[in-house]
Amino acid sequence: MGARRWLSLVAAASAALAMTPEQMISAPRRGEAVPNPSGNAALFSASQYSFDTHKAKSWWELMDLKTGKTTTLTEDSDVSEIVWLGTDDSSILYINSTNAETPGGVELWISNTHKFADGYKAASLPAPLSGLKAVTTHSGDVHYVVNGKSWPNGTAYNENLATKPLSSARIYDSVYVRHWDYWLSTTFNAVFSGTLKKPSVHGHHHYSSDGEINNLVYKIKNLESPYPPYAETSDYDLSPNGKWVAFKSKAPELPKANYTASYIYLSPHDGSEKPFAINGPDSPGTPKGFKGDSASPSFSPDSRHIAYLQMKKIKYEADRNRMFVYTIGSKKTIRSVAEGWDRSPGSIKWAADGKNLLVAADDKARTRMFAVPAHADHHYKPQNFTDGGSVSAYYLLRDSSVLVTGSAIWTNWNVYIANPMKGVIKELASANEIDPELKGLGPSNIDEFYFKGDFTDIQSWIIYPEGFDKSKTYPLCFYVHGGPQGAWGDSWSSRWNPKVFADQGYVVIAPNPTASVGFGQNLTDAIQNNWGGSPYIDLVKCWEYVRDNIPYIDTTNGVAAGASFGGFMVNWIQGNPLGRKFKALVTHDGAFIMDNMIATEELWFPQREFDGTIWNDRDNYRRYDPSAPEHILQFSTPHLIIHSDLDFRLPVTEGLAIFNVLQERGVPSRLLNFPDENHWVTNPENSLVWHQQVLGWLNKYSGIAESNSGAVSLDDTVIPVVDYNP
Ligand SMILES: *[C@@H]1O[C@H](CO)[C@@H](O)[C@H](O)[C@H]1NC(C)=O
Ligand SMILES: *[C@@H]1O[C@H](CO)[C@@H](O)[C@H](O)[C@H]1NC(C)=O
Ligand SMILES: *[C@@H]1O[C@H](CO)[C@@H](O)[C@H](O)[C@H]1NC(C)=O
Ligand SMILES: *[C@@H]1O[C@H](CO)[C@@H](O)[C@H](O)[C@H]1NC(C)=O
Ligand SMILES: *[C@@H]1O[C@H](CO)[C@@H](O)[C@H](O)[C@H]1NC(C)=O
Repeated sequence: MGARRWLSLVAAASAALAMTPEQMISAPRRGEAVPNPSGNAALFSASQYSFDTHKAKSWWELMDLKTGKTTTLTEDSDVSEIVWLGTDDSSILYINSTNAETPGGVELWISNTHKFADGYKAASLPAPLSGLKAVTTHSGDVHYVVNGKSWPNGTAYNENLATKPLSSARIYDSVYVRHWDYWLSTTFNAVFSGTLKKPSVHGHHHYSSDGEINNLVYKIKNLESPYPPYAETSDYDLSPNGKWVAFKSKAPELPKANYTASYIYLSPHDGSEKPFAINGPDSPGTPKGFKGDSASPSFSPDSRHIAYLQMKKIKYEADRNRMFVYTIGSKKTIRSVAEGWDRSPGSIKWAADGKNLLVAADDKARTRMFAVPAHADHHYKPQNFTDGGSVSAYYLLRDSSVLVTGSAIWTNWNVYIANPMKGVIKELASANEIDPELKGLGPSNIDEFYFKGDFTDIQSWIIYPEGFDKSKTYPLCFYVHGGPQGAWGDSWSSRWNPKVFADQGYVVIAPNPTASVGFGQNLTDAIQNNWGGSPYIDLVKCWEYVRDNIPYIDTTNGVAAGASFGGFMVNWIQGNPLGRKFKALVTHDGAFIMDNMIATEELWFPQREFDGTIWNDRDNYRRYDPSAPEHILQFSTPHLIIHSDLDFRLPVTEGLAIFNVLQERGVPSRLLNFPDENHWVTNPENSLVWHQQVLGWLNKYSGIAESNSGAVSLDDTVIPVVDYNP
C-alpha cells in the first residue's frame, strides 16, 4: 500500500468529501494583485506544491481588470518579485534571484509585460535583498528600496560570503537571545535604498546603476527595520516623489524583550542624513500618551504627509491602533484621526484624492475596508465598504476605488474592485471557481450565530461538511483560536482550515470568546489576568448553546482542538468540567506550566497578560495553571500533543511536560514533534502528516473513522510510531 494509502482512500471518496488535506495543501496559492498605473491590468504571483513530484513551482500572472481574465507572464522561478515602474502601463522592474557575479546576491532587471523576454539587467545587488518598492522620479531616474540583513557596520549581509566561525557557541549579555525561530546575532534587518539612472537620450537605451546601496537604518544603534520575524514590507514606504523613506523600528532606547514600543523614522532616500523618529520620546510632535507599537507608514500622493498607526500602551501588542497624520517638517503635535473609533485598523493608505484614508480593520469576524477623511475628528465613525470575507491587500485605482485581494473560509484567494461610496462594484476572480482542488466550496458552507457569553454577546462561526443535510447529525468539532487576542475570521487558513476538518464529517463550531479582536477593545482587553476565566466561561456557554439549540450537531461525540493560546485553553479544558464533554482533544503548541512563561522570548507578553512578573506577581501566573495538581487529577480525555523544536515562543518543553503527565496518568495520548518547524507547521510534507495525525486522532475517538469510510484514519499512519510500552 505504501505511503499514499490513506490519501488515495480519501480521494476515492471524493463524492462525499469536498476538500481533503492534500487538496487544500496542494491548491495554488496566489499573491496580492497589484494594478498598473492606469488600472487596466494587475500582476500577481502564484505557487503550487505537488505531492506527485514533491516539489514547488512558482510563476507570475497578469490579470485584465476589465474581464478578470489572466495570462501567464513568466514561469521562470528566478523572478522572485515584480513591481510596476510607473512610467507606462507595461514597464516593470523585477528581482532576479540569481546573481551572475556574486553568489548569494540578486539582480534587478527591467522588462515589460508585452514581451517579458526582452528584459535586461539594470543592477547587481551584493546580498539576498527583497521587499522591492520603486518609483520613477521627476528626473526620470528610478528610486528603489529593498531590505535584508545588515552587518553592524552597515554592509549588507550575504551568508554565502561570510566566514563561518570555528565554534557554534553563542554568548549573550542581555535578554532577547532568541525570537520566533532564530537566535539573535550581531546582524539585523535594514532598509537599503538605491537609484537606477534613466536611459540617456544619446546612446544608452537602458537604465543603469553602479550597484551602490545605502543602508538607511544602521546609523542609529539598535534600529531594525523591517521588524522580524515577519519583516513585512508594510513596515516601510517610499514617497511618490522618491525623496523620502519612512520606516518602523522598535524603540532603540528600550530593551526589545520588555516592550512593544516602536517609532516611525523618516530618512532622505539617498541616506544623506541620519533618520529621525517623527513620534519618538524626544520628537516635538509626539502625541501625548502614545508609547506603543507604530505601524504601516504611508506617504500621501503629494509626498507631504505620512499616515501611520500607533497603539498607546508600551508593552501590549493587542492594544487599539489609532490613526495619525504627520506633516513632513512640522513641529506641531501629530494629528489623530477618528480617535474614538472602537476598531483597530491593521493597515492604512491614502486614497488617490489625498483627502481620505483607506484602512482595513477586523470587524465582527471579517477584515473589512473603511474610508476615513484625513481630517476626521475624534467622534467620526467610519463606515465599511466591503462586507464578506477578509481583505488581505488593497491598492488604489485612479478613480478612488481600490483593487482588493482577499480570502474567505470558502476561497483561498479572491480579487475584486470596491469603492468607498458604492461598495463592491466588480468581482474579478475567486480561486474556488478556478482550482479543481477547491471546487464545490462557496459561501453556503458557512453560517454564524451569537450567544450570551460571560459578560456580553459572543459570535461563533458554523462550518458545514460537504453534502450537509440538516435532518442528519454530525459530531461537533470545537475550534479554539490562539492569540489570545485573535479571531476566527471569514478568511482562509492553510494551517487550521475549518472546512478541511468539517469535510471529514463534522460540523465545526469556531467561536470568538473574550480576548477576540474585531468586536471592540473591551472584549479584547478583558482577558488580562483572566485566561481560564471569561474565555473559558464563554466556551462553556457556547458548547451549551450548541447542545440546546442546534439539533444537527451531535455534542456527545464531540472533539476539540486549539493552537498556541488555543492549546493552553485545550490543556485547561482537559483539567476542567468541559473536558469531560469531549471524546478527544488536540493541543498544538500550548502553554502547560504557567511559571514557564518566563522562558518565552517576548517577555512583555506574559508581563501584560498576567499583569506583572513571576517574582512579584506569581499568583497571577498560577491563577489558571493547567499543571496545578487539582487539574491534572481530572485529566482523562484522549489527548494528542503537538509541539515543534523551533518554537521559541512556547518552548517544546511545554508539549513534553503535558505529554509526560498524560502518559504517567494513563490517559490515551500521543506526541507529534517536528524538529524543523516553529510555532507553525508550514512545510507541505509536514503539514500533510500533521493533518493525517490530527484528523486521524479526532476521527478515531469521535467515531467518524468508522462511520465514514473516506475519512482520514490513524490506521494509515505512514511514519513509524515509536512505542516502548511493554
Ligand atoms: C537571471 O539572472 C541570470 C544571471 O544574470 C541570467 O542568466 C538569467 O537569464 C536571468 N533570468 C531572468 C528571468 O531574468
Ligand atoms: C563590514 O563588516 C563585515 C563583517 O565583518 C565585513 O565583511 C565588511 O567588509 C565590512 N564592511 C566595510 C565597509 O568595512
Ligand atoms: C524588563 O521588565 C522587567 C519587569 O517589568 C523589569 O524588572 C526589568 O528591569 C526590565 N528590564 C530592563 C532592562 O528594563
Ligand atoms: C458593511 O457591513 C454590514 C454588516 O455589518 C453589511 O451589512 C453592509 O453590507 C456592509 N456595507 C458594504 C457597503 O459592504
Ligand atoms: C468590559 O469588560 C468588563 C470585563 O473586563 C465587563 O465587566 C464590562 O461589562 C465590559 N463593559 C462593556 C461595556 O461591555
